[in-house]
Amino acid sequence: MIKVIVAKDYEDASDKAFEVFKEFIKPGKVLGLATGSTPLGLYARMVKDHKENGTSYKDIKSFNLDEYVGLPITHPESYYAFMHRNLFDQIDIPEESTHVPSGLGEDLEGQAKKYDEMIDACPVDCQLLGIGSDGHIAFNEPGTSFTSGTHVTDLAESTIKDNCRFFDNDISKVPTQAVTQGIGTIMKAKNILLIATGANKANAVKAMLEGPIDEACPASILQKHASVVVIVDEPAAALLQNK
Ligand code: GLP
Repeated sequence: MIKVIVAKDYEDASDKAFEVFKEFIKPGKVLGLATGSTPLGLYARMVKDHKENGTSYKDIKSFNLDEYVGLPITHPESYYAFMHRNLFDQIDIPEESTHVPSGLGEDLEGQAKKYDEMIDACPVDCQLLGIGSDGHIAFNEPGTSFTSGTHVTDLAESTIKDNCRFFDNDISKVPTQAVTQGIGTIMKAKNILLIATGANKANAVKAMLEGPIDEACPASILQKHASVVVIVDEPAAALLQNK
């Protein structure tokens, strides 16, 4: 079941996302974390809450969705670096409790399998998601099997273009492959919180919520999940029939 909450703008969406996510920021919980510009407002609120209210992450574990193939963790645009900069280094979560898939190594598929095994042993209580303008979740591009586990994938042309802004607007610098949790992996999370803001997400949001459940829109599978909250701002909700 999907519960849709329409927020006024990005800040309001981030406030509402924090209200939902904070229920899971408790000892013993496992958080599924995401990258991209969308969760930044939520992460800023988590940091503020930690600093002002002392909310602790000492007994929380986290699993991230994805990582670019070939970027060292010292590269500022690696998702490992992103997570440390925007969240991990500003809260008290132990490094060993955080997990970001590795995009480096000889046996990426073998590592991906191990990542799924770790998640199976530590089921995610709430998985945070953004959505790509083509309807992707994590880096599961259109056409990815709904039952996929963590795997190596080629990025869609539109995703490479969308992410160009993080790589000096130079398309040749954007990695072309990623390691990503599969759609099957994501669907195992007990709860899912997806945030979508901005007019360039309107088509994807409509397809996710009101389109057929079809691999052409990876996010449409969420219609089958038992517990999803989708927070959209007004521009992202613009094409929805049922608001
Ligand atoms: C990236 C990430 C996704 C993210 C999406 C949207 O490619 N792999 O996890 O949800 O694209 O990014 P943004 O939030 O910057 O729009």
